[in-house]
Amino acid sequence: MSDANTAFILSLIAQNATEVAAIASAKLRGFGRKNDADQAAVDAMRRSFMTAPFSGKVVIGEGEIDEAPMLYIGEELGAGGVKADIAVDPLEGTKLCANDAPNAMTVVALAKAGGLLHAPDMYMDKLAIGPGYPAGLIDLDLSPTENVQRLAKAKGVPISEIRACLLDRDRHKDIIEELRKVGAGIRLIPDGDVAGVFWTTEAARSGVDIYFGSGGAPEGVLAAAAIRCAGGQMQARLKPENDQEAERARAMGRDVHAKLTLDDMVPGDVVFAASGVTHGSMFDGVHFENGEAHVDTLVWDSFSKRKSRIRSIYPQI
Ligand code: FBP
Repeated sequence: MSDANTAFILSLIAQNATEVAAIASAKLRGFGRKNDADQAAVDAMRRSFMTAPFSGKVVIGEGEIDEAPMLYIGEELGAGGVKADIAVDPLEGTKLCANDAPNAMTVVALAKAGGLLHAPDMYMDKLAIGPGYPAGLIDLDLSPTENVQRLAKAKGVPISEIRACLLDRDRHKDIIEELRKVGAGIRLIPDGDVAGVFWTTEAARSGVDIYFGSGGAPEGVLAAAAIRCAGGQMQARLKPENDQEAERARAMGRDVHAKLTLDDMVPGDVVFAASGVTHGSMFDGVHFENGEAHVDTLVWDSFSKRKSRIRSIYPQI
């Protein structure tokens, strides 16, 4: 099958999966039941993949088979067709959805088999910028100060015009302090670092130039898919918190000390899709009206570089 046909099919499959998951979890916005909202998204997304015209295998999912009965790593889904790797975060920002707070979304990345890193569910250090900069501009082994200095110089602005985004966590205290000292602006987010990394791809619109800090490794690979579509830069490093996690990473063939490049995380062309669940800066949340569900979706494919923003209307079930 040609790359154009693969991109077309994977884009439609990804779009449907994020949209049905967004509608299902949006029905549970604001009820304080993050696990129920997540489960609703998982069920809907899995149903969508089961009948989709591809032969997919989950490489980033809800966990290992013993801890997640659905969308577990290794689960094979689809009605047959092009062999693809599936990465999912059926509900990114479960707490955001439970609190009806901004920026909860559903996220999927699809690539031809072998096109996505198999990452264990643990923390990962992340560093990302959007497109338009010389290759190798940022580096995880440089200090936050050095990275923002390089970025400001390349962008041709003073450091005060560089804005970094981080999860608002105690573990980021030192980075935040350092960024304040060097004079960069900071956007602290309560949850949802896929959006945080994504924002760097639309810096003029989002106001975020660079993403720093640790969060989930699965979210890291999904965000890397968006960075690849954008032609941006990203590096990451797994951050196991104990021997068990380190062993799990090694069993999956990962070197826990290795600095992961974008090519390590997303070696092939990829389709990235996300749909809004709650209202946010990337998307309107799902909107129910007159028996219909209106869903905002982004589908981006690195095969053709096509980036589509779609407003889909579904008859409500
Ligand atoms: P969930 O949707 O699984 O709740 O994850 C939200 C999230 O904020 C991710 O975006 C991020 O990668 C991770 O949690 C950070 O983990 P922690 O809350 O432990 O810092």
